[in-house]
Amino acid sequence: MAESNGTKKTITLRVKRQNGPGEQQYWETFKVPYTPNMNVISALMEIRMNPVTLEGKKTTPVSWDSGCLEEVCGACSMRINGVPRQSCTALVDQLEQPIVLEPFSKFPVLRDLMVDRTPMFESLKRVKAWVPLDGTYDLGEGDRMSPELQQERYKYSECMTCGCCLEACPQYNDKSGFIGASAIGQAHLFNLHPTGKNLKADRLDVLSGPGGVVDCGNAQNCVRVCPKKIPLTDAIAAIGGQATVHNLKKLLRF
Ligand code: SF4
Ligand code: SF4
Ligand code: FES
Repeated sequence: MAESNGTKKTITLRVKRQNGPGEQQYWETFKVPYTPNMNVISALMEIRMNPVTLEGKKTTPVSWDSGCLEEVCGACSMRINGVPRQSCTALVDQLEQPIVLEPFSKFPVLRDLMVDRTPMFESLKRVKAWVPLDGTYDLGEGDRMSPELQQERYKYSECMTCGCCLEACPQYNDKSGFIGASAIGQAHLFNLHPTGKNLKADRLDVLSGPGGVVDCGNAQNCVRVCPKKIPLTDAIAAIGGQATVHNLKKLLRF
């Protein structure tokens, strides 16, 4: 909620800052003018217009990432009052003050609240999260997909690679090697596709190996924080079962 100093309302933000990759983090506090219905990004824009701390010290503008401003691209994700979420849909009126902003802790910080989400995209490459198509000749019509299958796949297709599920996961960090819930969800999405399933064995090779689905501790934090309410634990259960069968088949082949 906004504070009133007698004349106009203000809001207070406590921001974890970092000047560049690998540099020391530090905190700064800002007081900015309140406007009705403002979100965290508009509060950050106020800081950018007047980068002066609560103590009156001139500082650098806070850096953050954003794209769509409507919870579709995932770029503006950060920890807001300790919760991984998108800053474009975090409304100031619904947040406790001071509003504490931190970059994700599971990704390399580029500057302030901006992180490098490349590891997530690399994981998508590892599980071949695409439908294999050869564009050199007319492929004709694709396989038909039932409305039920379309419905099932639709939820997974909403993933915006925001990283909230990885930030909240106790198993995911730069030492564990665990691939994380989002890549498992996307592998499931493409395994369910009539053409995408042609790469199912390749995906299961990755997901049944080190850092694969077996490393999931079933804490279910991922499904709780996913802004798109993707049924990640269903995907983890499905891929877990498929990975077991896949490994057994491989064993019997030798
Ligand atoms: S169920 Fe738990 S351990 Fe598994 S991916 Fe989700 S948060 Fe991580
Ligand atoms: S599964 Fe949900 S929380 Fe994870 S990256 Fe996708 S949208 Fe974000
Ligand atoms: S700016 Fe795209 S999700 Fe917030």
